[in-house]
Amino acid sequence: MAVKILWYLTAPDGVVPWEEKGRWDTGFDHLQQLAATIDKLGYYGALLATGYGGNDVLTVAAATLSATRRMTFLGAVHPGLLSPAKLAQIALTINTFSGGRLALNAVNGNDATQQAYGMHLAHDERYDFSLEYWRAFKHAYSGAPEGFHGKYIQLAPPPPGGYRPAHAGAEREPVSLWGAGTSAPGVAHSVQLLDTYLSFADTPQRLGDKFRRVGAEAAKLGRSLEYGTRLQIIVRETEEEAWDYAQWLVDQTSLDYAHQSLRRQLPPGETLETYRSPDERINRNLDAIRAGRLPKARDYEIYPNIWTGPALHGFGLLGPGAGTTLVGSAENVAARIREFEAQGAKSFILSGWPLIEEAHRVAHLLFPLLDLDHGFDVPLLNARRARSFVPASLKEPQP
Ligand SMILES: Cc1cc2nc3c(=O)[nH]c(=O)nc-3n(C[C@H](O)[C@H](O)[C@H](O)COP(=O)(O)O)c2cc1C
Repeated sequence: MAVKILWYLTAPDGVVPWEEKGRWDTGFDHLQQLAATIDKLGYYGALLATGYGGNDVLTVAAATLSATRRMTFLGAVHPGLLSPAKLAQIALTINTFSGGRLALNAVNGNDATQQAYGMHLAHDERYDFSLEYWRAFKHAYSGAPEGFHGKYIQLAPPPPGGYRPAHAGAEREPVSLWGAGTSAPGVAHSVQLLDTYLSFADTPQRLGDKFRRVGAEAAKLGRSLEYGTRLQIIVRETEEEAWDYAQWLVDQTSLDYAHQSLRRQLPPGETLETYRSPDERINRNLDAIRAGRLPKARDYEIYPNIWTGPALHGFGLLGPGAGTTLVGSAENVAARIREFEAQGAKSFILSGWPLIEEAHRVAHLLFPLLDLDHGFDVPLLNARRARSFVPASLKEPQP
């Protein structure tokens, strides 16, 4: 068994990017440098996330492509904002120019984002629409000569002789579709459509249970999926260094960020004053926040080396979510990745801040400890250190 490690190619960046004072004012040159770093270090690819505002994902992929040679750009797309035939044209162009290095992350966002873009379908219907949208996309991408007739989407047959980008003489490779969805309609959508199902991380056992539930639904349709997860990462030579850094991040985080994150996580009708969790560790943390202070770093550890402390994508005070972080020594973090792998995770989309610096740390400390399946030889940043970790069978003969 072997894993794919992806990094993150999305602004903002910084030392503590969830706090104004720790966020950098980066631009295009920084994204190019980040893409070149991810590529050079031998990551399988990178996730380009989408929301309202920020940089457009497909523009970033197209614009940074020439700084890279082999990484895959996993671009998140909300269905319906572009005609599926137009998206197929853009994807085909990027794939032609990059030698097939675009994959798409089929995401469905949330009501606020979607409505701001002018999409007013309610949550469950969004998944019905999305399924049809991605089928229409695949249809157009394949170059099918006939039209597409769905409930929401009608594509007339393409005009004869329409220009198609030259495809380096090869058949067009299908675009790999990744995606997520935890609700029942989200899972039903995923199992009909996706090649790789993604979930935010939890404990290995709970994540594995989720993958097995999704897998059982896929099996009913005769399909099988690959699985991947998303984690932040703080990896250092020793446990102590890693946890000291986690504590430093907590020290840089404002109480206000904890309050903002809580407002997003609390169940409807609950407030910080009223909410009680069945988990006493969470209640103790909430008591600290009620008293006006943030709990210590170790108080957010939900499983060895799995942490729900502050992160750009939220502060999981009520439980793991988008900001869940691997914290620890290289050996322990590698062991945890193997534990996730044993539960079915094949792809790991990681990020640590600042993105370029931490991408180097992960490649230096972690890559030599993992069996990587990136489809190319992954360079060793520090061959001397790495040599002490690679299995004897893979070591070069000593002179
Ligand atoms: C790894 C991962 C990445 C995601 N990236 C995005 C994204 O870039 N933009 C977005 O709007 N939603 C993103 N999502 C959210 C999903 O589209 C979806 O809204 C979420 O999983 C909730 O699922 P549900 O609608 O079934 O409740 C992501 C989810 C996961 C697990």
